[in-house]
Amino acid sequence: MREEALQAIADAPDLPALQAVKTRYVGKNGLITKELGSLGKLPPEERKARGAEINALRQSIEAALAEREAVLKREALDARLASEAIDVTLPGLPLPAGGLHPINRVFEDLTAIYERMGYAVIEGPEVEDEHHNFEALNVPWYHPARDLQDTFWLEDGRLLRTHTSPMQVRYMVEHEPPLKIVVRGKVYRYEATDATHEAMFHQLEGLVVGDGISMADLKGTIAEMARGLYGPGAKVRFQPSYYPFVEPGADFAVWWENPRGESKWLELGGCGMVHPSVFKAVDDLREAAGKPRVYEGKTGFAFGLGPERIAMLKYGIPDIRYFYANDPRVLGQFRGEL
Ligand code: PHE
Repeated sequence: MREEALQAIADAPDLPALQAVKTRYVGKNGLITKELGSLGKLPPEERKARGAEINALRQSIEAALAEREAVLKREALDARLASEAIDVTLPGLPLPAGGLHPINRVFEDLTAIYERMGYAVIEGPEVEDEHHNFEALNVPWYHPARDLQDTFWLEDGRLLRTHTSPMQVRYMVEHEPPLKIVVRGKVYRYEATDATHEAMFHQLEGLVVGDGISMADLKGTIAEMARGLYGPGAKVRFQPSYYPFVEPGADFAVWWENPRGESKWLELGGCGMVHPSVFKAVDDLREAAGKPRVYEGKTGFAFGLGPERIAMLKYGIPDIRYFYANDPRVLGQFRGEL
């Protein structure tokens, strides 16, 4: 039995197999246990010697079991360590890169140009009240200009801002002149959508206020932006226009040429000299907040433009709705462009 048992122990390929061998020989109903149980059938003078023999056998089997168990356990541990090891020399897996939305890319270009000119870049609330969006910008309730901008009204009487111009008012109420800011953000118009109109789009608004700021400063600023966007040869054009919060007011366009040799005037936005009524409305709000009136008698200019138009031309995107339809085939093309 000894030879047979030691051979079985040596042959056990793993711990469960070894456990089976252990049960077979030294378990409760194992062969050794049975041998011991049968001692009683022997004549008393043989029992002692036979008992000692069986015990010696049992001890050698148990010693062999323990030894083999230690070996198998170490093998199992070694195998686990090998299979779970991390090879730090393997090349990394590339994570799919995201990308800036094309509108944000254009905003980054524009704000970089204005930061170079010393402007602060700010944002503001998309939910506005009537006073900041219209009243303080010289657009009283009966003014036909309110029809020009169809408004999303909220149930509490507030609205989604129809332009970024209310931030002119908010900023001037908080800060004294001189100042130079650009405001970037979303605006909303209650309009039917088509290839060039969306209910939500973006604006970049500029405001400069100080002493003796003139229309020449405004034109020079827009020209500098055009050169920043389209190179040193960029041309700008101003045409008289009407916005209640500026006087005089103008629309401006940039002469744009693309690499395919196409060129045309790109109507970019509106601008003008800040209307004295806006300065008065700001001073009224400041006074109500316990701040000094500091805007009457100042001059300044403001402008507003839409980055969507720039992005559509720059990236050859034919329909404004592609920007916000979340179609991965469109936005996926801007992957990795950071
Ligand atoms: N707020 C105007 C618009 O949304 C643009 C504008 C801004 C015009 C500043 C003049 C001055 O159309």
